[in-house]
Amino acid sequence: MMISAILISLVLFLLSAQFLNMQWKSRGFPPGPTPFPIIGSIWWINFRADHQSLKKLAKTYGNICTLWLGHRPMMVLYGFQTVKNGLTNNSEDVSGRLQTYIFNKLADGKGILVSNGLIWKQQRHFGFGTLRKLGMGNKGMERGIQTEARYLVEFFRDKEGEAVDPSFPIVHAVSNVICAVVFGHRFSLEDKTFHQLIEAFDYIVAFGNSRFYYMCEMLPWFAEHLPGPLQKARFSRDFVCSFVRQEIKSHREKGRIDEPEDFIDFYLKQLEKTKNVPNSTFDEDNMVQSVFDLFLGGSETTATTLRWALLYMLVYPDIQDKVQKELDAVLSPSHLICYEDRKKLPYTNAVVHEILRFSSIVLITIPREVVKDTTVLGYHVPKGTLIMANVDSALFDPDYWETPHQFNPGHFLDKGGNFVTREAFLAFSAGHRACPGETMAKMELFIMFCSLLQKFKFTLPEGVKEINTDFVFGSTMKPHPYKLCAVLR
Ligand code: HEM
Repeated sequence: MMISAILISLVLFLLSAQFLNMQWKSRGFPPGPTPFPIIGSIWWINFRADHQSLKKLAKTYGNICTLWLGHRPMMVLYGFQTVKNGLTNNSEDVSGRLQTYIFNKLADGKGILVSNGLIWKQQRHFGFGTLRKLGMGNKGMERGIQTEARYLVEFFRDKEGEAVDPSFPIVHAVSNVICAVVFGHRFSLEDKTFHQLIEAFDYIVAFGNSRFYYMCEMLPWFAEHLPGPLQKARFSRDFVCSFVRQEIKSHREKGRIDEPEDFIDFYLKQLEKTKNVPNSTFDEDNMVQSVFDLFLGGSETTATTLRWALLYMLVYPDIQDKVQKELDAVLSPSHLICYEDRKKLPYTNAVVHEILRFSSIVLITIPREVVKDTTVLGYHVPKGTLIMANVDSALFDPDYWETPHQFNPGHFLDKGGNFVTREAFLAFSAGHRACPGETMAKMELFIMFCSLLQKFKFTLPEGVKEINTDFVFGSTMKPHPYKLCAVLR
């Protein structure tokens, strides 16, 4: 009895000391809800960083505020100017990625997406340098995208106007672009392994930014010992990694590093080149994780945007009509769409950008970590502080968009109908850690979207009057499943 009383008093004393320590530390940070030991102040947003809670947070505490993720302070940036300045002034100082229990379990500090320091610099530089060599942003990749666009057109043509859910064929087309570049081959629509790969990625994406994710970060012991979402996420990750290792093995057996044809060949060549270089971070684990990251970063995001694209064409048939009128006026019906065509199709290009803005699939960037003591938006912040940038708030900032909550391609057109870029268009984020796949994503979206609209008129299935435009919340904001009819034009 006596011992329990002492223990309880000790725990209460430690918690109170920790509580006071957190209040003391909070003084130098932007305002925010009161942090408590263990749970920090994430309770204030109900353990979920969603649109409403982030908006409420900004309304209550301002565009720069602080949330505590457990015992770690996290600056939350809201609105275009704050997000832009926070990520680009002293950009290198805020280029770290948060290292957490979950990220370490899932990536172990390797690859591009959640790595830091030399590993991040070398893997990002090599990864995207190699994608460029393999044709990213030029004709090489364009051909791959055109091929997948053709398969997508064939898929819809075979349906002969019957109502169909476009999700899987879209995911298939977009993922195959990456597969061709990374593995040197594509998968058929029926391939079982491909279905399992997509399922595994879907699970990982849904797990990130979920309540379970935040719970696991705060209570790692429970997450480790209880069967549940973390175990499933790890299982999904292991499945993808063992597939990638299998691919590496078969590439090794082919032994064509002198004439590399795909990302894995190039990486194997790099391993050979750097095997005696001190400080080199090139090894098989980083290769597997980089491939994983290219997939994770590049497939789900682009496919989700394309699913929104077709959904918006159902909701706004007049806009679909205008795009088709422009395509018909500028290109012959048999013209093979290429990325260069966007210059002759300002309205269509504006529609593609408005789709990216309005679908706003990435609500917040994966949290950044300050890599050395620095100043962020006037606050002196110590190394290790986290930064959460709300990209969505820039894409809907009423000070920068005329009609932020309307689907309006006019946002990207000047008075003369010419395409214009907009500074608040931060769909791909900003600063040192901004999305390196922006050009590739835009190329895929433009070519696939135009190829589809050139051939088909998309309509709602007979009897369906309305379509759900709400999103399904996750690491990316996806549309609810829907069906459409693709009628040959
Ligand atoms: C519509 C499509 C896409 C969107 C909206 C998108 C958006 C983003 C955003 C917001 C970030 C976070 C940047 C930050 O932390 O500030 C990011 C990072 C990243 N994206 Fe994309 N992305 C898309 C397509 C792609 C593609 C096609 C690839 C590559 C094949 C790609 C690869 C990556 C990688 C590797 C990172 C991590 C970069 C780093 O941590 O250094 N993304 N993306």
